[in-house]
Amino acid sequence: YLSVKERIDKKRQEALLGGGQPRIDAQHKKGKLTARERIELLLDPESFVEYDMFVEHRCSDFGMEQDRNKFPGDSVVTGQGRINGRLVYVFSQDFTVFGGSLSGAHAQKICKVMDQAMMVGAPVIGLNDSGGARIQEGVESLAGYADIFLRNVLASGVVPQISMIMGPCAGGAVYSPALTDFTFMVKDTSYLFITGPDVVKSVTNEDVTQEELGGAKTHTAVSGVAHYAFENDVDALLNLRDFFNFLPLSNQDAAPVMESHDPSDRLVPAMDTIVPSETTKAYDMLDIIHAIVDEKNFFEIMPSYAKNIVVGFARMDGRTVGIVGNQPKVASGCLDINSSVKGARFVRFCDAFNIPIITFVDVPGFLPGTAQEYGGIIRHGAKLLYAFAEATVPKITIITRNAYGGAYDVMSSKHLRGDVNYAWPSAEVAVMGAKGAVQIIFRGKDSQVEAEAEYVEKFANPFPAAVRGFVDDIIEPSTTRKRICRDLEVLASKKQVNPWKKHANMPL
Ligand code: COA
Repeated sequence: YLSVKERIDKKRQEALLGGGQPRIDAQHKKGKLTARERIELLLDPESFVEYDMFVEHRCSDFGMEQDRNKFPGDSVVTGQGRINGRLVYVFSQDFTVFGGSLSGAHAQKICKVMDQAMMVGAPVIGLNDSGGARIQEGVESLAGYADIFLRNVLASGVVPQISMIMGPCAGGAVYSPALTDFTFMVKDTSYLFITGPDVVKSVTNEDVTQEELGGAKTHTAVSGVAHYAFENDVDALLNLRDFFNFLPLSNQDAAPVMESHDPSDRLVPAMDTIVPSETTKAYDMLDIIHAIVDEKNFFEIMPSYAKNIVVGFARMDGRTVGIVGNQPKVASGCLDINSSVKGARFVRFCDAFNIPIITFVDVPGFLPGTAQEYGGIIRHGAKLLYAFAEATVPKITIITRNAYGGAYDVMSSKHLRGDVNYAWPSAEVAVMGAKGAVQIIFRGKDSQVEAEAEYVEKFANPFPAAVRGFVDDIIEPSTTRKRICRDLEVLASKKQVNPWKKHANMPL
């Protein structure tokens, strides 16, 4: 017999090897790291504190009770550690143990770190790589998923939750990532779907590959399920560290402030000429964002989906901010179903986690057409309006050019409690562009050319909004960074509370 100490050491050694060397080799062959290697890369060196290394599954059917089918720690590695010195809870599914499938014990381990993260006030990062429910365990495994879903929901808006999909994630398993704040994927090796290609074929008779159905490209460009796709495991985990630096630890924590080497009063002369004088000519809103934020560092969220709106994180004078901008380069920056939903979810994340929102507006309105109306643009567009209206974090808005119609109201306008709203001299706040307006109000009349000139003189400039106090100032574009940095300093102590409610009923 081994002594207790020897048994402890032996179990630890076994746990470190997961499903054994041949399966580790198979994992590497697929271009994937193991669960433990991933944690090593994600966390600061030596910072990982592991929990539940001795936990084993409790299944005794199908020969599962035999020693050769028991792996200390089972199919997930859990614990806490640090990213740039800041606390984070992590679980990393181990594909080498029963394909990372979710047993009752596996779920219990995840729930334990989630519970503690919520009590302590620290984010949870899940590294997903799993064949789904542990088939041998049946309903025990399904119960485990539900236990995790419940915690995802309870933790929503309390601590940031991030899912990194690094292998399969299918069936019920997809709903945990879907409930978290951000879902990231690794190109070529990860996929998310409700049912795989074989089931799809038998039900709808469609031929589709795994990659087409639920690969990173599909979810970052077509479905909008995932927020970013990384090249490989290493790229994903290193970028996740950078991303983590933008986030507060919890809803009780302020957005982090990093040391900045970019002067807060830096003028950006290029901004004075960036907006073309012809209102129909496009420019790239990303150029404005990059030029204005600290060190051109902008972490764009969902860059390949609904490109007519740009959202992402940056810093101003070291402080994390959420940026929302209409993108004139794509569909003239109009709002449609997908861009409204994309924007709304981002705005709500920022508001939940004390991150000020900076909105750059150049919007010709909502996209017309049957596809949009039948698709429910009214209720989806309402989401973005709702999100901006309910947000109580500091809100700074810059109208760079057009702000037309209802879309003007939506885009963090003064009327939705924008704290500081600026117009550039090129701004035009109106019900619609001059041509369209004149065609309607002077339909059939000869004097359209003069009428258009009059309309332009009256409305195609920032004055109608400025004289009413709907924008606080008309500013030189080159001073935008300086103004925003100063405003954020002032607004840092902003306090605003919405009326008491059990929870809101936002249009879904
Ligand atoms: N339950 C129990 N064991 C599972 C499992 C599950 N859901 N999914 C995978 N495994 C096991 C396999 O039996 C295999 O075990 P082994 O190493 O002892 O041979 C190991 O995990 C690896 O699986 P394998 O099928 O060889 O890997 P793959 O990369 O070729 O395929 C999947 C991965 C996920 C596509 C495939 O395993 C699969 O389809 N699994 C079932 C998915 C499913 O329907 N889950 C239930 C619905 S939620």
